[in-house]
Amino acid sequence: MRQPLVAGNWKMNGSLESIGVLLDGIKAGMEDVTKAAVAVCAPAIYIPTVQQQLQGSAIAWGGQDVSAESAGAYTGEIATSMLKDFGCTYVIVGHSERRAYHGESDQLVARKFAAARAAGLVPILCVGETLEEREQGITEQVVARQMDAVIELEGVAALADGVVAYEPVWAIGTGKTATPEQAQDVHGFIRGRVAELDGGVAEGLQILYGGSMKPGNAAELIAKPDIDGGLIGGAALSAEDFLGICRAAN
Ligand code: PGA
Repeated sequence: MRQPLVAGNWKMNGSLESIGVLLDGIKAGMEDVTKAAVAVCAPAIYIPTVQQQLQGSAIAWGGQDVSAESAGAYTGEIATSMLKDFGCTYVIVGHSERRAYHGESDQLVARKFAAARAAGLVPILCVGETLEEREQGITEQVVARQMDAVIELEGVAALADGVVAYEPVWAIGTGKTATPEQAQDVHGFIRGRVAELDGGVAEGLQILYGGSMKPGNAAELIAKPDIDGGLIGGAALSAEDFLGICRAAN
């Protein structure tokens, strides 16, 4: 049995004050979330604050991006060792916003995955097609290409140390959720592709869905056999909504 995971992706939102209130609210409602793992991925500058508030709680934390390089002259970048220094468990790599607005290639994302893994962080590898790609009928090709970059660099066994998040770009922040069937199709495809290389890795791989997941649609998405939780953007900014999804996953 794979443990469900619900990870919040706060993106570039929040302030010292609002993060304090949000985390207090989440912590206060966690007593009935006993089976699902829960994490929040914060803007880098707030990670020390998140660590202070979450240390000793059942909630893990992580970054939203990380450098593929280990140290040196990379202005503005954050290294995996820095995330480790502040107790991060997870780091998101290859979010579609990074791919789209920062030109991150499949190969760079694979190197970030490798760097995170080497540092003992759990990379959350985001994959997913744009609306145009879905309409062209190439969803599976796109997702396969994004997965294969990591498999080619690190080998399929590396996926045992990570998490995959399927996030159809057209569903992110748009209020348009993939139907449970649409999501399951792609999740099943991802697991099947990994299974062709290593059945054990495929069986253990947590594959999260992301894209307008809300308390009202989380349960039916996560009920699908290959959907193991969620990567939550907008709804992760409200303690009530985030907890609603955590309970559904639980
Ligand atoms: P959303 O974002 O839940 O706001 O659609 C999900 C994500 O981008 O990780």
